[in-house]
Amino acid sequence: MARVRTWYNHSRPARATLIWLISALLFIFFFKTICQLRFYSPSAGTMELNSERRSKLYDKMGRDLDEHGAAFLKHGETSQSLSLSDLFDFKDGIVRPKLKPADPPVRANVLYLSKEYSMPISIAVKSTFLPYFDKVVWFQNSSFYHFSMFHASHHLTPVPATEEEIVSEMNAVQAVAEEICSLRIILDRVVLTSTGVLLGCWQVVSGTDPVTIRGKLRSALPRAPEKQLYDVAMLHTSFARLLGPPTNFHMELNQTSDQLHFFHKLVRHLNDQIRGMEAVVSELWYVEELDVLALALEGRMKIHKFQLGCRHT
Ligand SMILES: *[C@@H]1O[C@H](CO)[C@@H](O)[C@H](O)[C@H]1NC(C)=O
Ligand SMILES: *[C@@H]1O[C@H](CO)[C@@H](O)[C@H](O)[C@H]1NC(C)=O
Repeated sequence: MARVRTWYNHSRPARATLIWLISALLFIFFFKTICQLRFYSPSAGTMELNSERRSKLYDKMGRDLDEHGAAFLKHGETSQSLSLSDLFDFKDGIVRPKLKPADPPVRANVLYLSKEYSMPISIAVKSTFLPYFDKVVWFQNSSFYHFSMFHASHHLTPVPATEEEIVSEMNAVQAVAEEICSLRIILDRVVLTSTGVLLGCWQVVSGTDPVTIRGKLRSALPRAPEKQLYDVAMLHTSFARLLGPPTNFHMELNQTSDQLHFFHKLVRHLNDQIRGMEAVVSELWYVEELDVLALALEGRMKIHKFQLGCRHT
């Protein structure tokens, strides 16, 4: 009995020390966890949010054809609200872009997809669509596959600029490029919009997110139109534009549902070939488009190329 009491009396300070030590360890553990949450989670969390935002956008774009029908069979409009008949000439059974001077020139900032990746895509797109859409399809030239990021001036809100202002915009964009890290991306899906534009929709695996890139470009180009053409999270590249109903076809597509079914089948076939493809993007281009949609239609343009530098600021 006496021994027990002695032990108890003696161990009292020891127990206090032990409890204090456990509390301290718990405190350190929780503090570190909180620090990790505060310093790591937001960026990972934001990346996840951006990916989710893209997925939702792409879902919506994928439903567009069913919801609005194949408008390109009649008078399609592009995603930049330009009518297709304004953009193409169909004389003599040949599709030619109708190039119109852009006044003032459009100043676009785009990420560039190099030929290493664009060539195989272009081959798959052509082999899928050319057999059915001979002379009523326009293929994006694989030398100019791009992801539209941010416009310093576009046709809806023209922002004229002097030579000097263009040089200073270019310098600002170059400084942004130096901060951006190369993007490793994956082709999430191909969609055909109701306006007949065949789009590749991409997700980001690593590198600087388009949301961040557009944010940096906006700060660097304060005179740019407030309203931009695309959602800040979007990472898309256009592969082709369908300009009318399929030509070489063994049966008439009388019903709207037949048509949609057929277009979905082609898109699915293309997806089976190229969905999941990975690519690395490491160039940002500042492009002066002297013709309307020059990048898409191979019009006149001045391209200024900047390597992504991934430099910390
Ligand atoms: C694509 O553009 C390049 C560079 O301007 C040109 O050399 C090539 O002929 C074009 N390809 C097609 C299929 O028009
Ligand atoms: C479409 O209509 C044409 C003429 O009206 C008819 O000859 C053809 O069989 C129809 N095709 C289908 C798939 O129903």
